Amino acid sequence: MVDLAQQMRRHYHDSVELQFREKQGRMPHSGTEIRRAMLEDAYFKAWSALRYSAQEQTWWSVQPQVERNAAQISAEAAAVARRRGPGSLRLDPKLAMPRDVTAMDIHLMPGCFHTEYSPGDVSTAAMYWHGTAVFSAGLKMRHNGGGVARSIAHFLKCSRPDFSPKHLLDIGCSAGNQLLPYLDVYPELIGHGIDVSAPLLRYAHARARSLGYPVHYSQQDARSLDYPDASFDLVVSSFFLHEQSPSTNRKVLREAYRVLRPGGIMVHMELPPTNAVDPYYNFYLDWDAYYNNEPHYASFRKFDLATECAKAGFASDSFFARRIPNWGTVSESEFAESARGERPAPEHGNGASWYIFGAVR
Ligand SMILES: C[S@@+](CC[C@H](N)C(=O)[O-])C[C@H]1O[C@@H](n2cnc3c(N)ncnc32)[C@H](O)[C@@H]1O
Repeated sequence: MVDLAQQMRRHYHDSVELQFREKQGRMPHSGTEIRRAMLEDAYFKAWSALRYSAQEQTWWSVQPQVERNAAQISAEAAAVARRRGPGSLRLDPKLAMPRDVTAMDIHLMPGCFHTEYSPGDVSTAAMYWHGTAVFSAGLKMRHNGGGVARSIAHFLKCSRPDFSPKHLLDIGCSAGNQLLPYLDVYPELIGHGIDVSAPLLRYAHARARSLGYPVHYSQQDARSLDYPDASFDLVVSSFFLHEQSPSTNRKVLREAYRVLRPGGIMVHMELPPTNAVDPYYNFYLDWDAYYNNEPHYASFRKFDLATECAKAGFASDSFFARRIPNWGTVSESEFAESARGERPAPEHGNGASWYIFGAVR
């Protein structure tokens, strides 16, 4: 799919863009215009059908194994959780699931993030864990390796050497794969992860405990956290905000501000906003909004991040937004230079770099 996508961009420039210019006497201004021009194009239709099918097959490739072993995986997760060890798990069976999660199967994953098929179930988490490994197999990002978290943690180390966080909160932590690497980079850190999905949190807790990480997982809605004010030095999220409505994101930013101590830092890894990339890449990225059950994708990318962080309470001059290289794909000295803003990070796409934004409390 990665090769076909690169080929599609060439095809667009060689054919669809030329036709557009001939007809309109100008270049397309936006991803929306390019999408309209591409809708009847045979290459786009074939690529789009293949991509949709590849997304479905991602889940189908792991579903039978997960279903066959569901009882055993859940029993093992429960056994690890009963063992003495670091960290904890706090579930809230009364928590109402947000509509953004229940309305449709995001990424076409059967059951979405939250469905429980039996008491103590972790099969949704096993689907997510193994499915995302299949999905990212051809990319540089290797989702389960925690590359986003490792990159952000090293970015903080390089760009703010005096910052030494003790308490971390990961919002929408899923199975915790983008949480644990922070504790590798900052060994003094105590991790907290919240998510609405009980199966994912059970899995995350069993995994962190069996690996010996002190992480406290808790089932909460990010719009209304139960932590006291100023509880954390670092609040992060990854691949989370683009799945939320604008009104949810405003509440999440306000909660992040509230639970950070003064001087604490918020960092989100997200899709690059519409104004940070060219019109073709906007068209390409927004594909998920139309065909991959990601209804907020395009609206999130239009969200004015700096203004919204300021509305949440953060000082405007503390806002930052940039690409950082994916840790491990460039040398450590190149990474450090990019982190300090001395050289540009690679272009966004296929896990070569991450787009991050945030602010200081
Ligand atoms: C795409 S996943 C994020 C994955 C994870 N951060 C990572 O990088 O692998 C989005 C997660 O957010 C959770 N979620 C969605 N809405 C939420 C909310 N309002 N509060 C807390 N968690 C939420 C979902 O259950 C899901 O696990």
